[in-house]
Amino acid sequence: MTLTRAACEALDREDPLASRRALFDLPDGVIYLDGNSLGVLPRNVPARLERAVREEWGRDLIRSWNSAGWIDLPTRVGARIAPLIGAGADEVICADSTSVNIFKLAAGALAMRPGRKVILSEPGNFPTDLYVLEGLAGLAGDVELRLATPDELPSALTDDVAVMLLTHVHYKSGRLHDMAALTAKAREAGALALWDLSHSAGALPVDLNGAGADLAVGCGYKYLNGGPGAPAFAYVARRHQAAFRSPLSGWMGHARPFDFIDAYEPGQGMARALCGTPSVLGMTALEAALEAFEGVDMGQVRTKSMALGDVFLQLVDQRCAGHGFTVACPRGATLRGSQVGLAHPDGYAIMQALIARGVIGDFRAPDILRFGFTPLYVGFADVWDAVEHLAQVMASGQWREPRFQEKAAVT
Ligand SMILES: Cc1ncc(COP(=O)(O)O)c(C=O)c1O
Repeated sequence: MTLTRAACEALDREDPLASRRALFDLPDGVIYLDGNSLGVLPRNVPARLERAVREEWGRDLIRSWNSAGWIDLPTRVGARIAPLIGAGADEVICADSTSVNIFKLAAGALAMRPGRKVILSEPGNFPTDLYVLEGLAGLAGDVELRLATPDELPSALTDDVAVMLLTHVHYKSGRLHDMAALTAKAREAGALALWDLSHSAGALPVDLNGAGADLAVGCGYKYLNGGPGAPAFAYVARRHQAAFRSPLSGWMGHARPFDFIDAYEPGQGMARALCGTPSVLGMTALEAALEAFEGVDMGQVRTKSMALGDVFLQLVDQRCAGHGFTVACPRGATLRGSQVGLAHPDGYAIMQALIARGVIGDFRAPDILRFGFTPLYVGFADVWDAVEHLAQVMASGQWREPRFQEKAAVT
């Protein structure tokens, strides 16, 4: 059946999440399909930041560590993220960047599996995951970083694997791993499962506890909308917390940071995953941004997200056939996260032409146009309009204009 804009408008009218869009400051004239890279500004954040800057910092100065509860931000924000990822409030802490948290948790996992000398991941994982693991393997000396494709993973999980790090939703293809099945396989092999939830948290229901996951990390600036460079989160399952040691044993992870003693003693629970002083303004923005999830049913988020992706792909089939696109994500909605990918040899220029028209997705080398759907603020008519622009860019050959060929520093 041919999809029309009217049909998409009808889907928007029936959307139980439609009212959430008003919580976000979407710029006029923009269709934003890049919330999987940088989430949209929630409307409550500027005023919250203004208060944090002018009153908490400007007026109350250092007293705000106590009076404004700055010192508790990592725990407080972690507890707010916890229900979105199927974790207990005491199992998540907000801290540092995802890259740094990967290092802390993977190193902690290695130490929890003494004698095992392999870190397992997959080729084509997000670069920082592999780079950090490579650095850790080098530092640890005789540790091997082993890469295995999804098909090879079960046989690669030999009895020398200490930890398996996988990204739940692949950043480029959008492919969704079966977290419960792979975690069970890792456990059978005696290894720990560490999940990168950067493209999952806030985009789909995640059940770390239900899957028996050991460790997890994820970004604060994508579907959680915490703003550019927002602090990340780390999860250590309660059963592992007593054994977990962070290699970055900074003073904020100490049992009594304000005793100022020479010897390190890890803090209780997730506090031991902290390193240095938290980024107060960043965490304050993230804390406010998370209010957009209050009362949200993540099952509804998933239903809408899958439908948005399906509608997008159906419209591309309908309107962009013959222009050289191939679908570069799973066709089945249950097999992908909240994004779709199209491959095209001129993908970079096509994306630039779309962006010039206000349709913002992104490009991932060598040839992927990525479109992310944040169900809290993207609607079905947006998807229709985005594909209409794509069809026009292709039909007119607009992407061939020289201005769309020049590569920017950040793509
Ligand atoms: C899967 C994944 N992990 C980690 C990161 C980024 O980590 P960081 O915030 O440390 O730059 C990204 C960023 O896009 C990502 O897609």
